[in-house]
Amino acid sequence: MRILVLGSGAREHAIIAALLAEGGHEITAAPGNAGITREVETVRVDIKSPELVTEFAVDGAFDLVVIGPEAPLVAGVADALHKAGVPAFGPTKAAARIEGSKSFAKDVMARAGVPTGIDTTATTLDEVRTALDAATPPYVLKADGLAAGKGVIVTEDRAAAEAHAEQFLPDGPILIEEFLAGPEVSLFVLTDGEAVVPLAPAQDYKRLGDGDAGPNTGGMGAYSPLPWLAERFGSEQAFVDEVVETVAKPTIRAMADAGTPFAGLLYCGLIVTQSGVKVIEFNARFGDPETQVVLPRIESGLADALLAAANGTLGSAAPLVWRDSAAVTVVLASEGYPGDPVTGRVITGVDEAEAIEGVRVLHAATGAGEQGLTATGGRVLNVVGTGATLAEARERAYEGLSHIELLGGQSRTDIAAKA
Ligand code: AMP
Ligand code: GLY
Repeated sequence: MRILVLGSGAREHAIIAALLAEGGHEITAAPGNAGITREVETVRVDIKSPELVTEFAVDGAFDLVVIGPEAPLVAGVADALHKAGVPAFGPTKAAARIEGSKSFAKDVMARAGVPTGIDTTATTLDEVRTALDAATPPYVLKADGLAAGKGVIVTEDRAAAEAHAEQFLPDGPILIEEFLAGPEVSLFVLTDGEAVVPLAPAQDYKRLGDGDAGPNTGGMGAYSPLPWLAERFGSEQAFVDEVVETVAKPTIRAMADAGTPFAGLLYCGLIVTQSGVKVIEFNARFGDPETQVVLPRIESGLADALLAAANGTLGSAAPLVWRDSAAVTVVLASEGYPGDPVTGRVITGVDEAEAIEGVRVLHAATGAGEQGLTATGGRVLNVVGTGATLAEARERAYEGLSHIELLGGQSRTDIAAKA
């Protein structure tokens, strides 16, 4: 298959690595990064431009376009590709609102009867205060729109909650949500708007520091599978089945009923509470860094499944073949992340890390300069360890990381430790 992958992060590097491992595909990435360009052809195309992406995809006779990040989805890139007859993996602009608007997502969940936290919407600071009076701390406040991952605050501190609301109210409503206690799980499901194919669950580490201390980030590490789910639900499959039946299928049905059918990847962000599994967010794309640990566990069938989701034939596609393996990824971030990351610093040791059996280094924000590889953003690299068990995968990931040097680099030491 001739596949065009849009995006430039470790998630896209993971998608490309999985497709290459499957074999038989010709892959181009736009724009890619310094790691991706070592493996496949990369091109400079403005991936937020529906016209330019479509022109490039048509001229290049691509069989499939895989859209990584949310920005091109929100810009309508999938819509334009569909119109031009190019199969695109990723939802339309209208369907991507399930990620772009928290209140839209809440409406869909209400109509679909999907379990989620109770919430109140406030449009003024007075309404926020009234809602906070009625809430029990910790307070959960969410800006309605996309806020580059900074729109959510979970805090015991009433003043901090009000300050957060004040900061984001000018951009739109604020949701004040019930705090849900329990471990978080990310479950990705592929869908063509009707059929649903779940991938393996993963757990993401959102906080910057060990023991979940420090600010929220885009994600500092992840692992899959989740052995504790099997203990709790009898098997991991039982958990997955429950989420498919109570969350994914009703949501996909509600999206179709609303005239905004969702095809692509529905990212179910879940909390396993004492009173059942509840949704804290939906995303309209592969998660980052969870993708880096889910995809290495697929042996074959990925490209066919993505194409089938794009073409509306997922119901009759061959099932994915999974490896009986585990994967752990540890993110290396720049000094200053998640605030103002220091960029331009040299990275060494990547080749040494990759020389270790079961270690892959996926690039997130890297560039190739005169001094070699440099960091160009906040989350710089993902060191992925795979192995027969989580313990082996974890050991490999951390051994790989120990070879890599980046001045001021930040990473957690406890990814997958409790699991
Ligand atoms: P989000 O930006 O929606 O991914 O939210 C960021 C993080 O806030 C999530 O990963 C959770 O750790 C936390 N969070 C969001 N909603 C809730 C909730 N209702 N209860 C507890 N924690 C939450
Ligand atoms: N790992 C969180 C996200 O992709 O949104």
